[in-house]
Amino acid sequence: MSTAVGVEHPRLEGRDKVTGAARYAVEFPADDVAYGWAVPASATRGRITRIDPAPALAVPGVLDVLHHGHAPRLVPGVDATLFLLQEPAVHYRGELIAVVVAETLEAAREGARLVRIEYDTEPHSTVLTEHHPGLYRPEKVNPGYPPDTADGDFDAGFASAEIRVDATYRTPAYHNNPMEPHATTAQWQDGRLLVHDSNQGSSSVQSALAELFGLSREAVRVVTEHVGGGFGSKGYAKAPVVLAALAARQVGRPVRLALTRQQLFGPIGYRTPTIQRVRLGADTDGRISAVCHDAIGQTSTIYEFAEQSAVYTRSMYAGRHRRTTHRLVRLDVPTPFWMRAPGECPGAYALESAMDELATACGVDPVELRIRNDTAVDPDQGQPFSSRNLVACLREGARRFGWADRDPTPGVRRDGRWLVGTGVAGSSYPARSRAAAATATATPDGTFEVRINATDIGTGARTALWQVAADALAVPGDRVAIRIGDSALPPAGVAGGSMGTASWSWAVIRACEGLRDRIRNSPGGTVPAGGLTVEVSTADEIRAQPPRPRYAYGAYFVQVRVDVDTGEIRLDRMLGVFAAGRIVNPTTARSQFIGGMTMGVSMALHEEGLLDERYGDWVNHDLATYHVSTCADVERIEAYWLPEEDPDLNPAGVKGIGEIGIVGSAAAVTSAVHHATGIRIRDLPVRLDKLL
Ligand code: MOS
Repeated sequence: MSTAVGVEHPRLEGRDKVTGAARYAVEFPADDVAYGWAVPASATRGRITRIDPAPALAVPGVLDVLHHGHAPRLVPGVDATLFLLQEPAVHYRGELIAVVVAETLEAAREGARLVRIEYDTEPHSTVLTEHHPGLYRPEKVNPGYPPDTADGDFDAGFASAEIRVDATYRTPAYHNNPMEPHATTAQWQDGRLLVHDSNQGSSSVQSALAELFGLSREAVRVVTEHVGGGFGSKGYAKAPVVLAALAARQVGRPVRLALTRQQLFGPIGYRTPTIQRVRLGADTDGRISAVCHDAIGQTSTIYEFAEQSAVYTRSMYAGRHRRTTHRLVRLDVPTPFWMRAPGECPGAYALESAMDELATACGVDPVELRIRNDTAVDPDQGQPFSSRNLVACLREGARRFGWADRDPTPGVRRDGRWLVGTGVAGSSYPARSRAAAATATATPDGTFEVRINATDIGTGARTALWQVAADALAVPGDRVAIRIGDSALPPAGVAGGSMGTASWSWAVIRACEGLRDRIRNSPGGTVPAGGLTVEVSTADEIRAQPPRPRYAYGAYFVQVRVDVDTGEIRLDRMLGVFAAGRIVNPTTARSQFIGGMTMGVSMALHEEGLLDERYGDWVNHDLATYHVSTCADVERIEAYWLPEEDPDLNPAGVKGIGEIGIVGSAAAVTSAVHHATGIRIRDLPVRLDKLL
């Protein structure tokens, strides 16, 4: 019996990646390939009145300039952000409104600079405030939750509470910034479309392209073998794949198109800024009686995306009287979209920060406060959690970190010129599964192939599925090949929502189990000369699974030091403990947890989209001016996990770990800053100028 699951293993494609042999979307060979360069709108709201392509066409090598008056027609579909080059309307500054196609990348770029565009402009509204006259309640919030919930009588409960916290937290726009930009090589052959595209799930990109170009799904193939990150922004078809397909059709040649780093700030989505008011009412022991979370975010005029920021508060801590609300404003901005733990991440920053404020107000240790407000029953659904090891994470983290005997008094520890503080926060993320199909094939030589359109966005998903398959087949891994990343494979859901491994391994295990049965029942119990293949879908099984609150949990412990004169903040140490079901591959899991926590540090201390109201666009749209945490910003970072067996999840027993690492992490950092300095910053990021 093999024991692949739970064993450390480097990524199967790791060597290919570090030697450059792994091909990304714009690196696939294509005969006679041309290059596209997208042109962004320089107006914020209005319409294009004239496009003059002549100066661009005069550049040697430029083949064509596509725009709304000169591009193949698309069929309008569910996502209006993809209805590109069809209409003269401009919805936000930076919207991609033309594509220059040329023999070389350089010519395309030069041409894009020279296209002359004139606009009729209208006044724009691009700044989110809690007083915006356009505030409304969306029908639902991502991915389908009701916008508002209420249980008990929050107002009465809050009014009669002995201790009250009422605080408003603000988070700016955040930009996903994967290392590999959104990029595509597109080619048409006999009315069929083949694209190599960087995305988090090519089955849904295939559907989107089929709809837009009026094709059957079978006429579209999307290959996504390697992806250099996405953080949610590649969770659905985005502009480059549509623009490349339009351009390839127009010029009758394969076309490569990659967005520039600057073009990633907007057209591909971002995390909405939020304004979140959290109110907590408790007794003097810190037991919560009333909790309310009111979240405000923005969307675009093109498409409604409603970040579910208050959803975290519905299920995280106990409390009799509860209320959550979401309000939205449609602004002349690009459409926000998924960014690592959409909703839970900004929401947990607000709630976990308020918990820290409550701990201070009650004089209760913030670890103990969270333990006192633990609940075995989901306050939202009224059902027991399938498993909930938040308290175990807090206790294990406190032990490893050395939390005991912490003096809660803020601003009193000095180490030379540094003020030193520690902070804690909790975390949770739903453990969901989605239907998928898979095939497993046995050949008489004793080898196996498992096929599923899973996507590895750099996380190690390919390796994890290979381990799961080897275990399910009960053979050593070197006899198993795993094929993923191609819409021609059995369809599967997106690498997102922390449900990739749970969903895909479900189908992989069922296919492998089915194959073993078939081999057992075949003549002689052996694989016939022609091989054996089993194809499964988990749709019925997942539909039949009773609904139940299923969540992963975590706890973070942070130490910071703050320069007493300059306000400079250094992160000395960050430690996370997680309970996320079975961990398939400790090597890649650790990297997921640490990556999530680093992104939380980035959110707490560095990242901020700064909008210039005059232009309605971000002024810091590159990695020089939009600061992202690097190794030098994190001196010591550790991730641990608890053994957790939850039989009520999925056949692999996994909860998903892509997002739990980031969820509450920013609050642990900002709480440590408060402990160090006595200053409570409620608008991120915490920068030195806010501490002076
Ligand atoms: Mo994640 S933001 O669900 O890709």
